[in-house]
Amino acid sequence: MWDRKSLLSASQFSRSDVEEIISLASRLKQKPERLCSGKILANIFFEPSTRTEKSFQAAMYRLGGSVISHKDAGSSREKGETKKDTIRILSSYADIAVIRDNESGRMQEYTKAAGVPVISGGDGSNEHPTQMLTDAFTIKEEIGRLDNLKVAFIGDLKYGRTVHSLMQLLSKFSGNEIFSIAPASLSLPSDMKSMEAGRYDISQLREALAETKPDAVYCTRIQKERLNGEKGSYVVDSTLLSVLPPHCRIMHPLPRVNEMNVEIDADKRVIPFVQAANGVPVRMAIIAKMLGGA
Ligand code: NCD
Repeated sequence: MWDRKSLLSASQFSRSDVEEIISLASRLKQKPERLCSGKILANIFFEPSTRTEKSFQAAMYRLGGSVISHKDAGSSREKGETKKDTIRILSSYADIAVIRDNESGRMQEYTKAAGVPVISGGDGSNEHPTQMLTDAFTIKEEIGRLDNLKVAFIGDLKYGRTVHSLMQLLSKFSGNEIFSIAPASLSLPSDMKSMEAGRYDISQLREALAETKPDAVYCTRIQKERLNGEKGSYVVDSTLLSVLPPHCRIMHPLPRVNEMNVEIDADKRVIPFVQAANGVPVRMAIIAKMLGGA
């Protein structure tokens, strides 16, 4: 069971932990509650962010709390201060901290330095657990279940941290089938390949979607800032959507660059902006659970 002291990885969650967060998020989406009034959240971002940072900020405000924010530009990081010292300072001004890092796998170390509950806002190519919960909430709302789903993941499955977390979550529910569709050089990390029910090369995108008839398609950006010489590109457009079932939902954690054509935005099945908006109630639920307000 999730101990609520930190939120760093999908591995901390059981199926019922996920269900509890989804149910609180649904309640808070209907009607916000000031469950954290007087509390302060520190948003500590060592990597660019729009949705994660701002949705945490909006979530804390809606809970009646306040937010202090760190970005390297304009801070003592420009004088050479370490990330750990920065975390230690900001955390001493707050009750809970959200940390986003460009490096993978340092969140445990940061949590020790912080001394307050820490939420990962994404670490390198490793994991992005709050996006995972936002995606799970959105799937539940839009498709009605988190079991017996066929989900096709497309794009950069090697470095895409949102994929790594969401796949782990889906594997905790029953009967889910995961299909991966990626350039060969950007396929899933080897320790995750056992989760695949099928694997296709990105050049087979249309055939793969027509054959698997997924309930959800999860598109990702090629993580150009993390590549080591790998290459890959693809575009989801209206011709591709024509092979997908009417109930299928097309997701993307955003930002999209050129892998999702804006021409498909009007299609009701395309829901990245719904996902992004759901980030607020889901993050409200996470903060409230960790600060003991719920
Ligand atoms: C993603 C991220 O930062 O990992 N965005 C997000 O948080 N919603 C996806 C990405 O950067 O491609």
